[in-house]
Amino acid sequence: MEEIVYLNGRLVPKREAKISIFDHGFLYGDGLFETMRSYNGRVFRLTEHIKRLFKSVTVLRLKLGVTEEELETAVQKTIRANDLSDAYVRLTISRGEGETGPDPSTCPKSTVVIITRPFQPYPHELYEKGARAIITNTRQNDLSPLARVKSMNFLNNILALMEAKTAGVDQAILLNTKGFVAEGAVSNIFIFRDNTLITPPMDAGILPGITRRLVLELAKGLQIPIREGNFPPDALMQAQECFLTNSLMEILPIVQVAVHPIGTGLPGPVTQRLILAYRELVRIETRY
Ligand SMILES: Cc1ncc(COP(=O)(O)O)c(C=O)c1O
Repeated sequence: MEEIVYLNGRLVPKREAKISIFDHGFLYGDGLFETMRSYNGRVFRLTEHIKRLFKSVTVLRLKLGVTEEELETAVQKTIRANDLSDAYVRLTISRGEGETGPDPSTCPKSTVVIITRPFQPYPHELYEKGARAIITNTRQNDLSPLARVKSMNFLNNILALMEAKTAGVDQAILLNTKGFVAEGAVSNIFIFRDNTLITPPMDAGILPGITRRLVLELAKGLQIPIREGNFPPDALMQAQECFLTNSLMEILPIVQVAVHPIGTGLPGPVTQRLILAYRELVRIETRY
């Protein structure tokens, strides 16, 4: 069966899905995206993803011709058209076609694309044994409004990922301009120390992760003390536990940062409790 994608209101075969080389998404990285995961044919927390996207649509003043509800329906239809159960779902909204200069006022209408693919799970081993990370030289610009939107202009994150790959590790952690830990290149970060689960606050220059917020709620329910607060890299190295979160990887234990083992060097009990609680929530909501 040929892959079907959603392009500007229509479901079309992949080979017919073409966009203009004058699209400012292509020319300037001007646009937004969302990455989501479906379980059993249902996108987990779809409404929250679409709401976050629409907040960013307002920040970037994109001229979007669809409503939140229409976009939700379009996502579900694309998954169904591809007969997918467990899927990676990528929604992209670019500025659209315009003149060659960066002026967005020359682009009358955004381009909307939805791609769905069979979900490729992260290696099981990473959850059992934990993943390794480095702190990158690439920094997060916490002073930019772009830190808080999931922008198509992803090069800062890509540079960080390239640094991690060169260092031979799985994940990249970025500091912000103040030298505090901000987030992962594709994730939010948590540490557990002094009996408290700590995650950087929004003003550290982070994406308001859907998974991050859920983890904070789950921790509260499990009576794990939580705090949103800035911390330096030293506090990360001395943490008892560390994990990263995003909608695809869920909760990924980090057991080594650069040469420093975190805690015992194995996924810790708090991380494991949260992984189980998250999976249980997914199971209930998606009947997975
Ligand atoms: C830079 C960055 N921070 C955080 C996240 C986590 O967001 P969410 O939990 O909503 O998937 C992502 C997701 O890809 C990301 O790219």
